[in-house]
This record gives sequence, C-alpha cells and structure tokens, in this order.
Amino acid sequence: MTTAATATHAIPPHGGTLINRELQGKERDEALARARGLKQIALGPVAVSDLELLAIGGFSPLTGFMGSADYHRVVKEARLANGLVWSLPVTLAVSKEEAASIKPGQELALSDQGAVLGLLTVREQYAYDKKVEAQQVYRTQDEAHPGVARLYQQGDVLLGGEVRLVNHPASTALYAEHQFTPAQSRKAFADHGWKRIVAFQTRNPIHRAHEYIQKCALEVCDGLFLHPLVGETKGDDISVPVRMRSYTRLLEDYYPKDRTLLGVFPAAMRYAGPREAIFHAMVRKNYGCTHLIVGRDHAGVGNYYGTYDAQRIFDDFPAADLGITPLFFEHTFFCKRCSGMASAKTCPHDKTNHVTLSGTQVRTMLVNGEIPPIEFTRPEVAALLAAEMKGK
Ligand code: ADX
Repeated sequence: MTTAATATHAIPPHGGTLINRELQGKERDEALARARGLKQIALGPVAVSDLELLAIGGFSPLTGFMGSADYHRVVKEARLANGLVWSLPVTLAVSKEEAASIKPGQELALSDQGAVLGLLTVREQYAYDKKVEAQQVYRTQDEAHPGVARLYQQGDVLLGGEVRLVNHPASTALYAEHQFTPAQSRKAFADHGWKRIVAFQTRNPIHRAHEYIQKCALEVCDGLFLHPLVGETKGDDISVPVRMRSYTRLLEDYYPKDRTLLGVFPAAMRYAGPREAIFHAMVRKNYGCTHLIVGRDHAGVGNYYGTYDAQRIFDDFPAADLGITPLFFEHTFFCKRCSGMASAKTCPHDKTNHVTLSGTQVRTMLVNGEIPPIEFTRPEVAALLAAEMKGK
C-alpha cells in the first residue's frame, strides 16, 4: 500500500531531481503558437526518442541536448561536465548547411513527420569528431556496427540546449496501459509497496533464459519492472508489436501479477554494449528501479564486445556514483541433465547437455517452419514468433 514511508524509501533520481520538461496548459498553447513562426528541425527516430526521454525525466539530470563540455567529457570519461556518471552522448546532429542559419539563443521547433513535438533553445553549436566518439563509446570505428553506422551518417554539427515538449511522439499513443513516465513508475512501485525493484532491459522476446534470470532476481527483490525498449532497433530485431504480444502473453500465464509491471521504454538502441549498460542503469534509476539485470553481452551486437564486458564496466565506477545496483548473470541455458535452467556457475554437466541457440539460429528455424524447443522458448512465444515469420 502507498504510505509516506515507502515513498521516502524511493531511490533518488540521478543527480537528485526528476526533470520534467513537458509544457502544459497555457504555456503549451503559447509555445505551439510560437512554434509556427520558428525554424523547424525534422528529427530522426533516435532524436525523437531522446526528446521524449529528456522531457519525461528519463534522462535526469539532463534538460536538453548536450553542449560541448558535457559531450566531450561523456565521450572521454563517461561523466558529465559536473562529474555525474553519464555514458552515452545525447546529442542533436544537423548538417553544416542547416547549422549555418542557426544562431545561439535562437528557438527552434523540433518536429517528427511534420508534427511539432518540442522546442529547443540553442545554447551552442559545435563540431565533433565522429571517429573519436565511435572509438570511445562503441569501442570500434567499424561502420558495420549499427550504432557507428548511424553516427557516421548523422550531421556534422551538434546543437546543444534545453528542450521543452509540447506533443508526445505518435508512438506514445500505442500501448497506453504500459506507458509510464518515471514519475508514474515511481508511483506505481510505491502503490505496490515495492522497495527493491529490479529492471529488465530487453530488445527481444522473452525466452527461457530471460525468464530465468528475471525470476532469480525477483527472488531477492520485491518487484520486477519489465521494461522492453521500443524505440528504434536494427532491422532484423523482432518488431515491437510481436514482442509486446509475447510479453503480455507470458505475463498472463507465468508471472505473479502483484510483483510484475510491464512498461515500455521509449529509447532507441545504440548497441554500445558496456557504455549502454551504464546508460540503461542510470535511466532505470530515474524510473525508480533499485536494481538492473545485466546478463551476457548486454546491449551488444555481433562480436564487438566480450560476453561480460558490459558487467566489467561497472567496476570503473564507485557504487555511490551509480546509485542503482547491477545484478550480474552468467550465460544461462537449459541443461537436460539438471532438468532446468542453469549456468556454468550452477551446472556441472558438459555442453552436450545444454540447449543454447543464437538469435540467428532461432530465426533460421522459424523461417524454415521449425518451432524452437520448449527448453529454449515457451510454446506460446514460439507460436507468436512462428506466425510472424510466416507473414514474411
Ligand atoms: S539487450 O540488447 O536488450 O541487452 P537482450 O534482449 O538479448 O538484449 O537481453 C536482455 C537482457 O538479458 C540483457 O541483460 C542480457 O545480458 C540478458 N541475457 C540475454 N540472454 C541471456 C542468457 N542466455 N543468459 C544470461 N543473460 C542473458
């Protein structure tokens, strides 16, 4: 039950204050009217996600797109200019041509598919070195990396300045019952009386390994915040509607209702592995979570990161600077001899007993009309994935 006591136990947001940059009522009406006369910047999908997260406080203490002092220190040291941990740049890139007509102090309208979403007060515009960002943030300069490819394609000038939101992106209307701002998720946790809340980041359907580590975490926490990322992902990741169906289906039959909350996380995937794991932790802290699950190759792609690099990076930061506690999990799998889920930490049997499938293997099976085994994914999820593949 909600009590003042549970509310005061809540984990403080990153930097101490939950940011809210959403305009309401008269202020919003005025901003919308003003926006008609402003220069418009058409946002790409990542900037749309970032704008929304900035506005709702997911990126607290950030109040806008980063200026150069924050940007350079984030790239180099994964900290903001004031020293707070922050591991990914949150930037707005425009072309040199577009930048040429923009002056410091100018107000811009930020739009998505013609609709004005927000306003940016430009404080600064600056050049940056994409190769340095790629190396520092993604640990590679290879343009085959999806995050690096996106970085290389974006404009050459960054605009820094605070934002205000006047309209949520169209995608926010979807999955309405699973939309929580950080203030709303904090309230929901307090209403449940949860004090230890573990967040689960995912860009995939939930397979048995995911379910196992979530439930292990739930054994030592009060609540599970299942927080799938629904912003932009690379083309071959499973689509959001299919994933959402798989989550709701599983929650219905296999998870305790009073200990689980499904919320959509509007962020875009960067595939930055270790750096993104820290970012996921800071943002989930803002949503009110006290713990974050970090398993094998968290936020990784291809072979760019070692299996546990995204866990090791947490050693680079004092626990007090992070605030939220990571829960690390080894690579887990179903072991036939154990007759259950296990990992190298808990299972003495050799690999021939283990059911492990890569994302690519699962995709190939589904494309060929094969259903992945129950040891890998629950039949309800397998059926949804198979139906999705049939349509392709
Ligand atoms: S992610 O890019 O969103 O991190 P994914 O959806 O695959 O990818 O993983 C969600 C979380 O589950 C991550 O913390 C990841 O490390 C963890 N994870 C995925 N598969 C396994 C596994 N077999 N064993 C342990 N952890 C796993």
